[in-house]
Amino acid sequence: MDLIFATHNDGKIKEIRSLLSGKARVFSLGELNLNEEIDEPFLTLEENAMHKAKEIFRRTGKACFADDTGLEVHSLGGKPGVLSARYAGEAKDPVTNMEKLLLEMKNSKDRSARFRTIIAFTDGKKEMIFEGIVNGKISKEKKGNKGFGYDPVFIPENETRTFAEMEPEEKNKFSHRAKAVRDFIYWLRIIL
Ligand code: IMP
Repeated sequence: MDLIFATHNDGKIKEIRSLLSGKARVFSLGELNLNEEIDEPFLTLEENAMHKAKEIFRRTGKACFADDTGLEVHSLGGKPGVLSARYAGEAKDPVTNMEKLLLEMKNSKDRSARFRTIIAFTDGKKEMIFEGIVNGKISKEKKGNKGFGYDPVFIPENETRTFAEMEPEEKNKFSHRAKAVRDFIYWLRIIL
């Protein structure tokens, strides 16, 4: 099956390709010369993910899915959440985002947090949403150079290392994205 993944994020593309390998051929927006940024105008991950999937379906007419992910920090009332990408400004820079987060949490004893991924799918006839959550905590400092985004400051539950200190295969075993993709694959098998 051929699927378009409505993203320009190289980190997400690598993870999704590995998670869907042998099950679907995944084309990124760059490979289809769709280089425009797709907006994320809504206040929930669900609405933004479906908006991106529908927008790319509208332009291509092909089965398409999108991922919207947020880092939800308990002591910050769920922030940065749906605004995770532009937490420190429109530049969407991961390093300044993490620095802002670590500064805001400088005196926080409660460092619990979770990553939440929503995957939205549409082929023009069917629409579906899948969710994946991984609980964990925010580290005191950045550690590791693998992964992407907030990975250097997120330590998943029952672990001492951040996601950025893990090999990609290890993160892919139990990450928020892996959980959402698992349900997505299960559902694709049923409908195909
Ligand atoms: P979006 O889903 O593209 O809006 O991403 C929201 C923000 O979360 C961006 O800053 C991403 O880099 C970051 N992000 C998304 N997925 C992950 C992940 O698996 N690990 C770390 N950061 C992530």
